[in-house]
Amino acid sequence: MSINSNNILVTGGAGYIGSHIVELLIKLKAKVFIYDNLSTGYKKLINKKAKFIKGDIKNFKDLSLIINKNRIHSIIHLAAYLNINEGEKNKKKYFKNNVGGTLNLVKACNNNSVKNIIFSSSCSIYGNKKNSVNEKTKPKPKSYYAFTKFKSEEIIKKYSKKFKYKYGILRYFNVAGASKSGKIGEVEKSHGHLIKNIAIQSQKAKPQINVYGNDYNTKDGTCVRDYIHIMDLAEIHLKILKNISISKKSLILNCGYGKGYSVQEIIEVFKKLKKNVKVKYKKRRPRMLAYMHTCTHACMHTCMDSYTRSCVHIHARMQSCTHTRIHAHMMSHSIAYHTIAYHNATRLHACMHACPHTRTRARACLHASARTRAHTRVYMHT
Ligand SMILES: NC(=O)c1ccc[n+]([C@@H]2O[C@H](COP(=O)([O-])OP(=O)(O)OC[C@H]3O[C@@H](n4cnc5c(N)ncnc54)[C@H](O)[C@@H]3O)[C@@H](O)[C@H]2O)c1
Repeated sequence: MSINSNNILVTGGAGYIGSHIVELLIKLKAKVFIYDNLSTGYKKLINKKAKFIKGDIKNFKDLSLIINKNRIHSIIHLAAYLNINEGEKNKKKYFKNNVGGTLNLVKACNNNSVKNIIFSSSCSIYGNKKNSVNEKTKPKPKSYYAFTKFKSEEIIKKYSKKFKYKYGILRYFNVAGASKSGKIGEVEKSHGHLIKNIAIQSQKAKPQINVYGNDYNTKDGTCVRDYIHIMDLAEIHLKILKNISISKKSLILNCGYGKGYSVQEIIEVFKKLKKNVKVKYKKRRPRMLAYMHTCTHACMHTCMDSYTRSCVHIHARMQSCTHTRIHAHMMSHSIAYHTIAYHNATRLHACMHACPHTRTRARACLHASARTRAHTRVYMHT
């Protein structure tokens, strides 16, 4: 399958990861349809060259109409809620959206036009595993969010025979960074992701980072995670889409680099850039896992040859020292923030005469973006 010859539907394409996948698809001249209800997605992340449909995956009729009318050939399904805390407090909401929405989506593929579904799953489905996990590790979700991802995987597998599609289930580890285009990045505030938070704090005069729990059973007491760069992850989607449509074989894949870093280690890197950073240690957040990192070898062996090559390529690119890798994540986030802050500032600037309150905010914003530029230079030189 060549990416540009068929219609591709991206649910959740106005979100952080979705917008990066769409950017790559558009570069390859694919015909992309974004389906998103903008609950945690943003208009400013929507690629102008894609067709945007505002809609909800809980609406079966709507989904069915869109898939049939546009003869959708492949679906990349990202739409979901992903806040672990919120999921614990509001299980019904998470079940309806993540599991019910996925069920609607696969049932809407009943006309057999859809040949491939790529699903955004999560490493959290493995539960707490001190050693690295591979795709054959038995899932044991600890949080309700992880449970909804696991259930969604089951649904996608179950219906693949009935509706004759192949699937690629991608279990993401911790996603970080932003596109070099600087036009998109992670902007949703409710997702408390560490590297994003550090990038935001890097723009402040008095940066502060909260660490939730330093009494885990890890080397320094803080959680260990395997961070994957967003552009590598986006590339994996395209390669897997090509792979399953050529091989006609479904697959499950862990998406990480095979090395875990503790929160404290990442903060130490940040401290070298921002000496005045204040670190506040707080209570653990519920259902947080101490460890999450994949086993690279398993990832390579379970893939087909073409993917293995790309995987090796990605590893080569990222196989530098901790510092360089974390800097790369932070730097790209920072550039995206700079651009987004700049756009916001320009918009605010236009209405500066409206009220004195706006005027103050606009000045603060412009100030922040000027500072980001300086930081970006710092990152580039380190
Ligand atoms: N960010 C990570 O580190 C990470 C890790 C593992 C898995 N994931 C998975 O990746 C996917 C994308 O995550 P993200 O980080 O881009 O989050 P995000 O919140 O930025 O993107 C999710 C998008 O889905 C949309 N959406 C949610 N519910 C919807 C509904 N009912 N109908 C239509 N659109 C809906 C939101 O508006 C948003 O644009 C999610 O499925 C998430 O579970 C993310």
